[in-house]
Amino acid sequence: MAQGSAAHEEIMSQNRWSPESWRMKPVAQAPAYPDAAALAEVERQLAGYPPLVFAGEARKLKRALGAAQKGQAFLLQGGDCAESFGEHSADNIRDFFRVFLQMAVVMTFAAASPIVKVGRVAGQFAKPRSSDNETVEGVTLPAYRGDIVNDIGFTRESRVPDPRRQLEAFRQSAATLNLLRAFATGGYANLENVHRWMLGFVKDSPQSGRYQELADRITQTLGFMRAIGLDPEAHPELRQTEFYTSHEALLLGYEQAMTRLDSTSGEFYATSGHMLWIGDRTRQLGGAHVEYARGIRNPIGLKCGPSLQPDDLLRLCETLDPEREPGRLTLITRFGADKVEAHLPGLVRAIQREGRLPLWVCDPMHGNTIKTSTGYKTRPTERIAAEIKQFFAVHKAEGTYAGGVHLEMTGKNVTECTGGARVISEEDLHDRYHTYCDPRLNAEQAIEIAFLVADLLNEERALQPLPVRAAE
Ligand code: PEP
Ligand code: CO
Repeated sequence: MAQGSAAHEEIMSQNRWSPESWRMKPVAQAPAYPDAAALAEVERQLAGYPPLVFAGEARKLKRALGAAQKGQAFLLQGGDCAESFGEHSADNIRDFFRVFLQMAVVMTFAAASPIVKVGRVAGQFAKPRSSDNETVEGVTLPAYRGDIVNDIGFTRESRVPDPRRQLEAFRQSAATLNLLRAFATGGYANLENVHRWMLGFVKDSPQSGRYQELADRITQTLGFMRAIGLDPEAHPELRQTEFYTSHEALLLGYEQAMTRLDSTSGEFYATSGHMLWIGDRTRQLGGAHVEYARGIRNPIGLKCGPSLQPDDLLRLCETLDPEREPGRLTLITRFGADKVEAHLPGLVRAIQREGRLPLWVCDPMHGNTIKTSTGYKTRPTERIAAEIKQFFAVHKAEGTYAGGVHLEMTGKNVTECTGGARVISEEDLHDRYHTYCDPRLNAEQAIEIAFLVADLLNEERALQPLPVRAAE
């Protein structure tokens, strides 16, 4: 291409990234804020607030994900579909964290694999919607777009996007992250507590025996270490854990306001969470969300649904990860149990042909949502399990690593997904159906899925030579 030509200049200027360059592109899923001045004022305030996470932490997560890309670790990513202002409490955060720790320990111990722990938490507020409107009994109102945008109540006033909600979402994210950091490093995550993480209502569940057994073995192992003179207290890995946050980078005004120039590297980082992902509805190549994500240096996730063609995936990879940086790109596939076979091998082969090494992660939730005859959105646990199994099978057949799972889950004893060992039927759903958006696995179902993943991982990794330890 001729240097200095008008065409080149144009390409260069199109290519120039800044935290606000997304504003020049079409923005899918954008809320219609009625008061532009109020929105601008909120964004100005947010831009002056302290960062929630640091660039150095995002780089550390990137290194961990880089190891997972090589089969030396596995990603557990999960949390609410949508966090809400109404359900913000210490109990909810603790119950989530504890079931997450249980899942991680099941997977670490049963599969002898390091688990990279990333919550869908402390910032997962904005929701993409299939339709801009919602109609109930003949009344049509704007759709609910997550608590950071509008209110879930079905009235005209509730559904008006209010920018001040972004300040509340920031405050809640900061408070949530503060407690999670305390849990992760302040003793709660100590492996000596492995028995105490078991939630009351899980104690008498079908999975509890298996968990109890595993916890006993860990306690024995710690006892053995002590007996031969190794002091578990001297090993921070046993007393604390690395825990990271993630959310969908959907509300770009908020993300821009939270984007900061890192003085160590001279690069821009999103500081609203460690890892951000692009949703299946906002991954258009020329669109605003891809534009924003390409310029920040955090680890980036990309949701890959059934409409994604291999060629488009390759172009997206080139845009989002031109330098093929380890840990940069996580491809989160979400097809539905009946569609994995038809879609995943094509994407994996295209990526393989290019010699790329992204992290392949399975979201078994978003392709398996059905509506019951009584009007509940639900997900059968069997389908969730089936998609995970097929995900592992395809990667085994293609010679790539099944690198992680992405789950919508809660520590609460909700009835939102059907099935599981303590069978929840469609008739049970109304009992404790609390989600603000999509149906989540409850704590028991989540642990059951963790055991399934551990078994699959064990099979997969047992076939591999012993992993070389990732360079820190
Ligand atoms: C989500 O993760 O909540 C979501 C909306 O997913 P997707 O973009 O894959 O539909
Ligand atoms: Co969801």
